[in-house]
Amino acid sequence: MSEPVTLSFARLTTAPKGVLIVLTDETLAFGAQTQKLLKGADAAITRAFDAERYKGKAWSTIDLLAPAGLDAPRLVVISVGKAGELKPADFLKLGGVAAGKIPSSAREATVVLDLPGAKIGPESAAEVALGIRLRTYTFDRYKTKKKDDTERGALAVTLLVSDEAGTKRAVTVADAVGDGVLFARDLVNEPANVLDPPEFARRAEEHLSSVGVEIEVLDDAALARAGMHALLGVGQGSIKESRVVIMRWNGGPAGEPPVAFIGKGVTFDTGGISIKPAAGMEDMKGDMGGAACVTGLLYALAARKAKVNAVGLIGLVENMPDGAAQRPGDIVTSLSGQTIEIINTDAEGRLVLSDVLWYAKEQFKPKFMIDLATLTGAILVALGSEYAGLFSNDDALSERLAKSGQETGERVWRMPLGPEYDKLVDSKFADMKNTGGRHAGSITAAQFLQRFVDKTPWAHLDIAGTAMSSPASDINKSWGSGWGVRLLNQLVKDHYEG
Ligand code: BES
Ligand code: MN
Ligand code: ZN
Repeated sequence: MSEPVTLSFARLTTAPKGVLIVLTDETLAFGAQTQKLLKGADAAITRAFDAERYKGKAWSTIDLLAPAGLDAPRLVVISVGKAGELKPADFLKLGGVAAGKIPSSAREATVVLDLPGAKIGPESAAEVALGIRLRTYTFDRYKTKKKDDTERGALAVTLLVSDEAGTKRAVTVADAVGDGVLFARDLVNEPANVLDPPEFARRAEEHLSSVGVEIEVLDDAALARAGMHALLGVGQGSIKESRVVIMRWNGGPAGEPPVAFIGKGVTFDTGGISIKPAAGMEDMKGDMGGAACVTGLLYALAARKAKVNAVGLIGLVENMPDGAAQRPGDIVTSLSGQTIEIINTDAEGRLVLSDVLWYAKEQFKPKFMIDLATLTGAILVALGSEYAGLFSNDDALSERLAKSGQETGERVWRMPLGPEYDKLVDSKFADMKNTGGRHAGSITAAQFLQRFVDKTPWAHLDIAGTAMSSPASDINKSWGSGWGVRLLNQLVKDHYEG
């Protein structure tokens, strides 16, 4: 919610202000410009390195307070390890590490993007800038007292770069992506009493129409007319209405089929009548992480004017226990016409997605569909928080996703699908049931979804471990991560833009 940092860019030869942050490598060498800047402090730096036995191991840092021979109140040295082998994700991390080294008392800092034997181009500099933004984001909307020691005041950071004009252009693009990520984080962090389905839809509409995304919102009545009874069944125990939001960005050739992104948006998941245990239930305000990602992604694509036709569809419901709630044993008819026996009302995400996937396929005949969902606790058991689970009927799409994952650091791990798993969701009374038994829970959930995609190339990302409750990282200190916005933006950029 708050981003206390103002970023600016200047040429490498500009005089630095405030906390001075410079880079080194695993041999403790400095770039040519950095050497000039640090002249006069050489002795102090060598003594500090010796005193700390600082060897320049990748991502290790050292701080010098009021170093003799420099005007800077503080010098921070960050080692990037092998300077010639840095990937985009490393520059992002560099921004995060640098931002983390600026004390909250500082009002000014300068990062010198200069390395020995490797030029840092505009794209890389923009990643550093993005890393700083992502790292310094905090969700503090509901803090009425700001604590001086833990919360920073306004901070101006200047990046010294080799190509100022090029960097500024690259940063416009990176800022669009960053805005998308932070919007997604805000949505995930927001509590469910504030962010219910109608409010989510309202925010998506307000935010995305400002960058030229066409928005359509289907309310309860429209969803019933359309026949989305699997989705509506989940929402029927809540006093909040359900919504489906359809977001369209037409940046590609007219008439070209779009790429489609579908998100699970359960604004709160109590489990329904199959109610969850109390411990940790508050985390289920984040059960709309898939929808947040899709919304943030569509924002990013539009804000950077991506040359692609893209649609985002999110299914927004609240899963509550109530006299009107659906019961285990109920049978609903999905939009596809297939019937579903509800075994466990807590397996609600797949019910929401089944209707939205079918709708996306029928309405848009997309090139591919990728859905994102905080779908199963089982994916946390399998992969923890490091990788999202990837399930797909298409090898090429899977490989592209895996590659974009490596590039952005939002990594995916492919899991199996197959007829043996598929039959586990056959039902005695209906075409299928919404749970597949104790084992392979993430896979049977994916098998269920696959029954709603036909032959459309499709990938399902189970992000229950990556979207929320994120372990603090160099580029995120907040609970919600905004996971997937950078991954899918990269996928579109590398493979689907004309
Ligand atoms: N939203 C949950 C999955 C989840 C769990 C997300 C933990 C994030 C953290 C989902 O709706 C759910 O309840 N899934 C059940 C499925 C089961 C009833 C078949 C689960 O994983 O236990
Ligand atoms: Mn659930
Ligand atoms: Zn859920």
